[in-house]
Amino acid sequence: MGLTSLNQQLLSKIATNDEHGENSPYFDGWKAYDNDPFHLTKNPNGVIQMGLAENQLCFDLIKEWIEKNPTASICTTEGSMAFKDIANFQDYHGLPEFRNAVAKFMGRVRGGRVKFDPNRIVMSGGATGANETIMFCLADPGDAFLVPSPYYPAFVRDLRWRTGVQIIPVTCESSNNFQITIEALEEAYNKAIEANIRVKGLIITNPSNPLGTILDKDTLKSLVNFINERNIHLVCDEIYAATIFRPPHFTSISEVIQDMDSNDDLIHIVYSLSKDMGFPGFRVGIVYSYNDEVVSCARKMSSFGLVSSQTQYLLAAMLSDDDFVGRFLDESSRRLECRHKIFTEGLKEMGIDCLNSNAGLFCWMDLRPLLKEPTIDAEMALWRVIINDVKLNVSPGSSFYCAEAGWFRVCFANMDDDTVEIALQRIRKFVTKKEGEVATVKKKRCPMNLRLSFSSRIYDDGLRSPHMSSPHSPHPHSPLVRARN
Ligand SMILES: Cc1ncc(COP(=O)(O)O)c(C=O)c1O
Repeated sequence: MGLTSLNQQLLSKIATNDEHGENSPYFDGWKAYDNDPFHLTKNPNGVIQMGLAENQLCFDLIKEWIEKNPTASICTTEGSMAFKDIANFQDYHGLPEFRNAVAKFMGRVRGGRVKFDPNRIVMSGGATGANETIMFCLADPGDAFLVPSPYYPAFVRDLRWRTGVQIIPVTCESSNNFQITIEALEEAYNKAIEANIRVKGLIITNPSNPLGTILDKDTLKSLVNFINERNIHLVCDEIYAATIFRPPHFTSISEVIQDMDSNDDLIHIVYSLSKDMGFPGFRVGIVYSYNDEVVSCARKMSSFGLVSSQTQYLLAAMLSDDDFVGRFLDESSRRLECRHKIFTEGLKEMGIDCLNSNAGLFCWMDLRPLLKEPTIDAEMALWRVIINDVKLNVSPGSSFYCAEAGWFRVCFANMDDDTVEIALQRIRKFVTKKEGEVATVKKKRCPMNLRLSFSSRIYDDGLRSPHMSSPHSPHPHSPLVRARN
C-alpha cells in the first residue's frame, strides 16, 4: 500500500487532503529564490524576492520608538517589573489597554470618521486566523462565500481548508479596471443558487490585494444593499487600510454603514497589524463584528489563536502614543508613495503599465503585450522566464485566480532602494534585450536612509517556510503561501 493511502487511513481527512493550496506551480519560483536569494553584496546575481507583501519601509521609526520606551517591553531592565503579571495574563478578552489601543488605532487609520468599540475587538492569529474564525462563525461545511477575483491566494487556505467552506469567484475584468459590479455578483450568486449551494456571504478585500485599489463609497453602499437584499453576510478584510499613499482616502465599511439603513448584524471586519504596521511576525489579527453573537462566538474561538500578552502589552503602549502613531502613519504613506512612484515610473519608461492604484505594498503589472498568446499557459511560460532568466520572483495573476492572462503582482515595499533599482535594471534589460542599455537606468531614491538586507526575510506573513522552521522538517518547501501574501 502506498504511503499516501496508508496515511489516508491513519490520519484525518484534513490532514491528508490537498486543500491547503501549497501544491502550486510557484514551487519553482520559490525554490529558485530559496536556492539563490539575492543579496546586494554577497549574492548580487541572485533572485530578487518581489512576491512578498511586507511593509519594511518604516522599521527605523519603530526601532526608535522601542529605544525611547524601554518600559513598554517586559523583557528590558526598565520593564521587567511588569513581567510576572503580563506573563501570567491569559484572559481571552485581551488586556483592556490593548483592546482600547487597537480600537483607537483602527479609528485613526480610518481617518477618525468612525469609532470602534473595544468590547467588539476579538483577537486572532493574524488576519489569517481572523478570516478562518469568521468563517467558522458564519458558515457550515459546504456553504459558500462569494469572493471577487483576482483575490488573495491564501484565501483558499484561510476561508476553506479547515472550515469546509467553498469559495465562489466573482470575476472582475480589466475592461473596467477590475471593479466589482453588481451584475457579476448577481451572476455568481444566481449560479450558486441554481447549483443548490447555500451562499452565506460575500468577502471583499479593501484595499485590494493584489490590485492595490480601493472601493469607493457608492460601490460599498451597493454591496451593503446586495447582501441585505439576500440576507447574507459581508466580511471586509481591511488589512491594508493604512497603506493608502495618495488620494482618494480610504473608506471603511464601518463608515458606510453609519449612514445606511442596513442590518449591521451582517457586517464584519477583519483586520491585522501585519501590513499597516509591518508586524506580520507578531500575529495580531482582529475580528470586529457588529453582531453580538458573532463577537461572543469568535471570542470563545479566539482561545485557539490569542495574541501573546507580551505582544499585547508592547502594542498597547505603542498604539496609545498618539504623536508616534500620527508620525508613523504619515511617514509610512509618504514612503510608500515614493517607492510606488519610483517603481511604476521606472516601468512606464520601459513601456510597462500598471493598474492605477493608490494603496497596498505592490502593483498589478500588465505584461499582456509580452505574452505569446492570451492564455494562462503563456503567462506561466513568461513567469518562468522572469524567474529563471530575469531572476525576479514576481507572482503571476493566475495565482490570484485572475481570469485574464498576463497580469503579475510585484511587491515593492519589502526591499531597499538599491534592490529596487537593480530589479528595474533587470526588467529593462529583459524588455529591451540590449545589455548596453542597463547602464542608462537613472538612480532614483526616496529621501530616506534605508538599508535593509532581506536575505533572511524569506517568509510570508502567513506561513513560514517549513524547511526554514526546522532544518529537520519532513515537508517540502511551501511555495504557496510564502508567495501569496
Ligand atoms: C488580504 C489579506 N488577508 C489576510 C492576510 C493574512 O495576514 P496576516 O499576516 O495578518 O495573517 C494577507 C496577507 O498577505 C492578505 O493580503
